[in-house]
Amino acid sequence: MTALPRIAIFISGTGSNMEALIRAMRRGCWAVPALVVSDTARAPGLRRAQDLCVPTRVITQNPDIERVLSETAIDVICLAGFMRILAPSFVRPRAGRILNIHPSLLPKYPGLNTHARALDAGDSETGCTVHLVTEAVDKGFILGQRRVPIRNGDTSEILSERVLKEEHKLYPDVLRRFARGYGCATGPLSAA
Ligand code: GRF
Repeated sequence: MTALPRIAIFISGTGSNMEALIRAMRRGCWAVPALVVSDTARAPGLRRAQDLCVPTRVITQNPDIERVLSETAIDVICLAGFMRILAPSFVRPRAGRILNIHPSLLPKYPGLNTHARALDAGDSETGCTVHLVTEAVDKGFILGQRRVPIRNGDTSEILSERVLKEEHKLYPDVLRRFARGYGCATGPLSAA
């Protein structure tokens, strides 16, 4: 029997995407939610992870990330609202095995304040993207997207809520497909 891929989810905040990923993995048994890492002890997502019985770690220094990964035998990392930019020396050897979700239709609006920027531009639609993480922020290979209409009277908050609902469908869908092809990966990320 082939072992299921072990997933670490990196968060900094609410963790609603993290929860969607954990629930989907648990429901379908296609991957193991092995670890949740936060770069701040104040992230509300930590409590959510604990309630879902997933081990959590708070890590504020890059070398500590390396150590925790080696202790936990992680195959794939999912960034889900993780606000720290990972060092190129961390990302480069793990290329193709770190995913991120971004609240815009990349390549449009990389970076922050995506909903305000879409509204300011008068766009009629926006959306969300799951992509591979590379050294260039929000520029990696796109694995999946979902479109969301922008309606008259929308604010950033309204749009953020509408997009977030789609994120919760997109990220588990993409990770499930990704995990299926994981057999071509080469071993635990700690060995990178
Ligand atoms: C999401 O909008 C995600 O696209 C962005 O940060 C937000 C995280 O939300 N990268 P949550 O913590 O998953 O609720």
